Amino acid sequence: MHIDKAFSARGRAATGLGFVLGVGLGAALLACGPGGGEASGGGAAAPIKIGHFASLTGDTATFGQSTDRGIRMAIQEINGSGGVLGRPLELISEDDRSVTEEARTAAQKLLQRDQVVALLGEVASSRSLAAAPEAQRSGVPMISPASTNPKVTEVGDYIFRTCFIDPFQGAVMARFAWGELKVKRVAILFDFKQDYSVGLAEFFRKTFKELGGEVVADERYTSGDIEFRAQLTTIRAANPQAIFVPGYYTELGLIAKQARELGLDVPLLGGDGWDSAKTLEIGGPAVEGYYFSNHYAADSDSPKVQEFVKRYRDKYGEVPDAMAALGYDAAGILADAMRRAGDTSGPHLRDAIAATKDYDGVTGRITIDAQRNAHKDAVVLKIEDGQFHFFRSVTAS
Ligand code: PHE
Repeated sequence: MHIDKAFSARGRAATGLGFVLGVGLGAALLACGPGGGEASGGGAAAPIKIGHFASLTGDTATFGQSTDRGIRMAIQEINGSGGVLGRPLELISEDDRSVTEEARTAAQKLLQRDQVVALLGEVASSRSLAAAPEAQRSGVPMISPASTNPKVTEVGDYIFRTCFIDPFQGAVMARFAWGELKVKRVAILFDFKQDYSVGLAEFFRKTFKELGGEVVADERYTSGDIEFRAQLTTIRAANPQAIFVPGYYTELGLIAKQARELGLDVPLLGGDGWDSAKTLEIGGPAVEGYYFSNHYAADSDSPKVQEFVKRYRDKYGEVPDAMAALGYDAAGILADAMRRAGDTSGPHLRDAIAATKDYDGVTGRITIDAQRNAHKDAVVLKIEDGQFHFFRSVTAS
């Protein structure tokens, strides 16, 4: 399997450090605790293995890399304060190269080869959907930090997520277009290879029509495309007041540029799939003034968010995006559930995750509902001066 050398090396270095620190401090704590005679020679307690399958390379590499950094930071902190159930956590990350089918293989490896007690992943809904049946069949809980398509958690009772779902996100942006931007005629341009994009387009369409709006063009593309002028020309002819583009950052930047070139000067609107520094890098001035919904805003004035942003910046030298924050929260929720479960067996862990209530995360208060989803507020971000800025928050009903 091909792995981006620079990233995997950094990833391993981080694991190594987290692990050594974790064992060291954990051992020190154990030594002070009751019956802490175990702690000699660093062989105190076997680590608890957690798997992360992620797009560490490929088309949507920033998704996997950010999530991995968020998770590693959480684990390092957890290990630094003694680990879980007297044991350090060990993260094993497996790259799926942003390829749907490889997400399944990556999950299988973690389950079978590494015998992980839980899986974290994926960001892209299609890849979570490809892997979830493996976790379900193995009786090992899987928590997707960021997949928003409703079908993901419907796979079974071992599959959870720490984010809101797209019927909500789609409605947020439809209401925003209608109510805030006063858009009556909208075009949609979605990626029909991604469950996320197909679903978000559908939920947006539904709410926008219910509000009284008109969808004047409904165009599609495929992940990996670089040429969008045909669809954009059709859209231009339909004369919309805004274009909803519920895709990933890879294509978004190019779509925005080509739209401007064709003289389409109406705002582009999107969802969380836009969240990457690459949107700004690829899109440049072409994405200025546009809006998208997301899970969190790095420039929020919440002290909890600001502390997180500072620690993350100190560690990685960049501003954490939503995936970093969601990865951090997903790992925190898993550790919290392990403590409440008292052991790491699949059924106990599953029940404990399902019972998560009012977990105080960086991305908000997280309660897992009966469908194993999280009910959380959304934010709308605006792209201005080459940065994402908090524009408003939208409360989950
Ligand atoms: N919600 C997207 C999906 O389900 C993934 C995503 C989450 C992208 C958060 C960016 C930020 O595919």
